[in-house]
Amino acid sequence: MRILLASRIDPDAATALSRRHDVTQAVDVDPEHLRRTVADREAIIFRSGVQVCEQVIKAAPELRLLVRAGSGLDNVDVDAAIDHGVTVVRVPGSSAQPVAEFTFALLLALARKVVVADRELRRRRWPKAELGGPLLSGRTIGVVGAGRIGTRVGEMGAAWGMRAIGCVAGHTAAARDRLAARQVTLVPFETVVAESDFLCLHVPLSARTRGLVDAATLARMKPGSHLINVARGGVLDEAALYRELTSGGRIAGAALDVHEHEGDGTASPFAELSNVLLTPHIAAMATDSQRLVGERVVELVDAYERGVLHEVLAAEEAVSIQPPRP
Ligand code: MLT
Repeated sequence: MRILLASRIDPDAATALSRRHDVTQAVDVDPEHLRRTVADREAIIFRSGVQVCEQVIKAAPELRLLVRAGSGLDNVDVDAAIDHGVTVVRVPGSSAQPVAEFTFALLLALARKVVVADRELRRRRWPKAELGGPLLSGRTIGVVGAGRIGTRVGEMGAAWGMRAIGCVAGHTAAARDRLAARQVTLVPFETVVAESDFLCLHVPLSARTRGLVDAATLARMKPGSHLINVARGGVLDEAALYRELTSGGRIAGAALDVHEHEGDGTASPFAELSNVLLTPHIAAMATDSQRLVGERVVELVDAYERGVLHEVLAAEEAVSIQPPRP
């Protein structure tokens, strides 16, 4: 199969693919370069940061397979793929634990000012009295989007003695029971916002969730609370958060792993704020899980080639395997 590797994946997986297929690499290239490179490709393997829009799909007349080496589909035009008879699969399972662990790393670092403390010491300062922070135990952790990742975050919070609450799109008895079994109480979105000491965002980016955490939502957060976004930059109104943080508002601090604009050369407006932690979309980058993602990508490509994709796909990975629309 002629494959374009448009993002970096686990090196062993890249080697395995190259042994069996004709693989071209064009990693994190600009949209024009991407359109040129896909011209003769039958499959594209990519992660976040690569926009697989209709123009890219149209630029690849022989395209048959899109493999999202991760979970978010906000960078893929799935409808255009279906229209062009292109199969879309993703690999969501292996990201849940690393993203949940990284959310907790941010939460702890934010609460206890770990990064600020490190910076101060490197500048030969010892401001011990200024570097206090809240205990987690007894505080409330709130999860917006209690799916696989969010539920795990809530469960980790409960293990630290926190009260864990969360909301989901469908507020059903089944969702309530599923979360209760993991020590997370299902509540409405407004309650998660108003009662969380640590508000963690875990919803996928879609038309429904774009701008979900806007100025009005931020104004309803608990005084002294912290916001953690490991979902997508577009879920949060970053300008509103900036205004909130710089106007002595109610939010004590924020940690942002995802951003409205990402990639080399991006200047974050938050870089000047010491109560904001910034990381470059690395929540899923645990080496062990990236290896699993890579192995799964190789399996899915091989299964597609052998015509047995349906048989090896887990339900959550099957995004579009419909025939083209008439
Ligand atoms: C994902 O959606 O799986 C994550 O954001 C990781 C990524 O693709 O970079």
